[in-house]
This record gives sequence, structure tokens and C-alpha cells, in this order.
Amino acid sequence: MEDDILNTIFDSAIKNKNIIKNRQVLTIDYVPDKLLFRTKETASIAQSLSVILKKGRPSNLLIFGKPGTGKTAVVKNVIEHLYKKANELDIKLRVPFINAKNSNTPYKILYEIAELLDINKEERKMQVYFTGLSMSEATDRILDFIKRKSIKVVLVIDEIDSLVNRKGDDILYNFTRANERISSDQFISLIGISNSLTFKDKLDPRVKSSLSEEELVFNPYTVEQLKEILVDRCKLAFYDNAVPIGVINLCAAIAGKETGDARKAIDLLRVAAEIAERSITMEITEDHIRSAQQKIDSDTNFEILSNSTLHTKLLILSIVKAKNGSTGEIYAVYQQYCSKLEQEPLTQRRMTQIIGELDQLGLITTNIVNQGRYGRTQRIKLHIHISSIKEALKNDSLLSPIVDEINN
Ligand SMILES: Nc1ncnc2c1ncn2[C@@H]1O[C@H](COP(=O)(O)OP(=O)(O)OP(=O)(O)O)[C@@H](O)[C@H]1O
Ligand SMILES: [Mg+2]
Repeated sequence: MEDDILNTIFDSAIKNKNIIKNRQVLTIDYVPDKLLFRTKETASIAQSLSVILKKGRPSNLLIFGKPGTGKTAVVKNVIEHLYKKANELDIKLRVPFINAKNSNTPYKILYEIAELLDINKEERKMQVYFTGLSMSEATDRILDFIKRKSIKVVLVIDEIDSLVNRKGDDILYNFTRANERISSDQFISLIGISNSLTFKDKLDPRVKSSLSEEELVFNPYTVEQLKEILVDRCKLAFYDNAVPIGVINLCAAIAGKETGDARKAIDLLRVAAEIAERSITMEITEDHIRSAQQKIDSDTNFEILSNSTLHTKLLILSIVKAKNGSTGEIYAVYQQYCSKLEQEPLTQRRMTQIIGELDQLGLITTNIVNQGRYGRTQRIKLHIHISSIKEALKNDSLLSPIVDEINN
């Protein structure tokens, strides 16, 4: 009996080598050589950076665009080519690429820049230690190094909005102004990449003007464009005939309807392929795509919920408990929960803000309902299954008296 099961599993694994040909091209880190529909953006960034090859300093550049519009991929491609050209011409160019989301403090970003510039390898006395220096001392050491070694630096800060949200724009101020302190032969230019269009408004006005000497916006992909991107990627990732055109159209339609996000489209395909691999089949079907979408949505909801603040979690639990979904009732339940856990409740105004955020994330929807002579009221509807909420909150021991009370 055991033998039968094992044989079936292994045989189907062998058979299913007919689906995925190259797994790596479906991962998030993969940058394709050919980026469709981004010629204009690629040329514009390359044009701006090309002055380096003529011994000039490029303007600082700010790139905006919604998630999955190819910003990171395009910048990485341009930089790789530029770097090769600069090497051929013996131009001392360095391009540290930092993701501000991964470095959780502004100091950590300085440390990473120092590491990527090899300061800590090449310098004995003037290292930027992992910890211990003031921000200004660390910045000075980086700038001194650039001056002494006479190098040209293009510093790319991806997801730059998360740096500013953490009050890190001092770094940006120092670096955008640094060129006034070093000569034109050595410089540091900045490329900031952000997926928040309102990010610029949060910047200190002094930083804003110098950081956005040039700006470039990446527009979301249309459904037709997503289809072509997927067809292109499928050729690399899958064996012939493993992905029917109807499946590609469905992926493109789902990702296009939501945000025009190429990452989402490729993710759908990857997860669907993994689901298909587990069943005995030679091709991905539309059902696999739909299951993949459900899986991605529930994984995202799990992430959001389990990383929420205590009060956001309490609010979600209050929405579960409230019968008619009106904001008044939800707030009353929330207050009861707070007193049960001996927590100071947030104001109703703050609650309304959080409700707005949850609505934007797609966890709930809010509707204004007309109640005739009783006026209008807001009704809140939950979009996550109660079992998923319980699952995401079950490790929060503070909440267990409330979570345990909820029936599925
Ligand atoms: N024009 C394109 N052609 C082929 N693949 C693309 C294209 N644009 C994006 N992709 C793919 O989509 C995924 C997301 O792209 P990328 O990481 O560049 O998006 P982004 O704009 O930086 O998003 P975020 O703001 O979330 O960081 C990558 O896997 C990339 O390979
Ligand atoms: Mg990116």
C-alpha cells in the first residue's frame, strides 16, 4: 500500500517535469534581459546617466510608479549596462543599490552604503562600523572616502518612501547636498525609487527640490501588455503547451483589473504552476489560476493581519462580533474589548482612519446606507473568512480570550 502511494507521487513528479522548465525565472529576484514596453523609460534613465561617460555629474532622479510596473527591473538593467561601459572606459564608478525597506534604520543604510563601496575593506581607520558612530560622522567618512579615492557614485535607494516614513530624510539631505562639498570629478548622485505617488509631499522642501532634479513616472501595464509580458516569460519558464493562451489571458485580466502589476501576474502563474504540479496534469488550467489567486489573497491577508497593531486587530474582531456592521456598534464592541483587556481605547476619529486603511487594503468594504428618516450610516463588511482571522491571530496570547470566543 505504502509502495503504491510512493510510486504514484514519484511517478507524477517525473511526469510533471512537463510543466516547469526553469523555476528561477519565476522568482521575484529574477530580472529579465528584455523588458517589454519600457523602452522609453529605459532610454530616459540611460540618457540621464550617460553624462557619467562624458565625465559629468548626472542629475538626481526620482522614479515613481505603482507596484510591479518594472521600476526596479529597469533601473537594475540600465545600471548593469552603464557599469560595464564605465569599466571599459576606466571610469571609477560605483553603484550601491540599497533597498530602504530591508534596512530598518537610517544608520543601517549608511552602514550598507559603506559596505557596498568597500570602505570597510579598504580603510582601516575610517571604517563605518556596524554601530557606534553618529550619523554625521558616518556620512562624513563616506564622503571623505569618495573624495580621497576620486570615485563617482550613483546611489540607488529603492523603496525610498519607507526611509522617509521613518524620518530618515536627513540622509537624503546630506547626500543631495554632498556635491557642494566635493568636486565635480567625484560626485554622488541619487536615484530614488518609490511606489507611493504622494511620497514627495512628505519630504523636507530642501530635499524635495534637489532630489527631484529629474522625475520619471512608470504607468501601470494594460491587460494587453501584461499578456505579452506573460507570453514572453512563459517561453522561459514552462515547457511547450503547458500554459494554454486562455490561462495567460485570465492571469493578465486578473492582474490588470487590480493594478496593472506585472509581479502579480507572474506570481499568479508561479503559484498556479505549483498547484498544477501537485495534481496529475500536463498543463495549467484556469481553475489552477483561480486557486492561486485565492491562495495569494489569503497569504497576503494573513501577513497583514498578523503584523497589525493590537488596536487594528481588536477592531477587526469587533467587526466580526458586531451584528449590523454599523460604525457605532463596532466602536461600542471595540470599547468593551479594550476594557476586557485593560487597554486604553483609541478615539473614534482614529478608528475611522484605521477603517479607511483596512478598506484600502481590501480587507473590508465600507458602504453608506440610507436609513430613510434615520439618516445615513456607514456599514462595514468583512472580506476575510473568520477562520483565516482566527488563524492569523491565534499566536497573540493577549487576544486569546476574545479569539477563543469566536465561532467559525
Ligand atoms: N516590462 C516588463 N517585462 C517583463 N517583465 C517585467 C516587466 N516589468 C516588470 N516585470 C517583472 O515584474 C516583476 C516586478 O517588477 P519590478 O520589481 O521591477 O516592479 P517595481 O515597479 O519595482 O515594483 P515595486 O514598486 O513593488 O517595487 C519582476 O519580476 C519583473 O521581472
Ligand atoms: Mg521595486
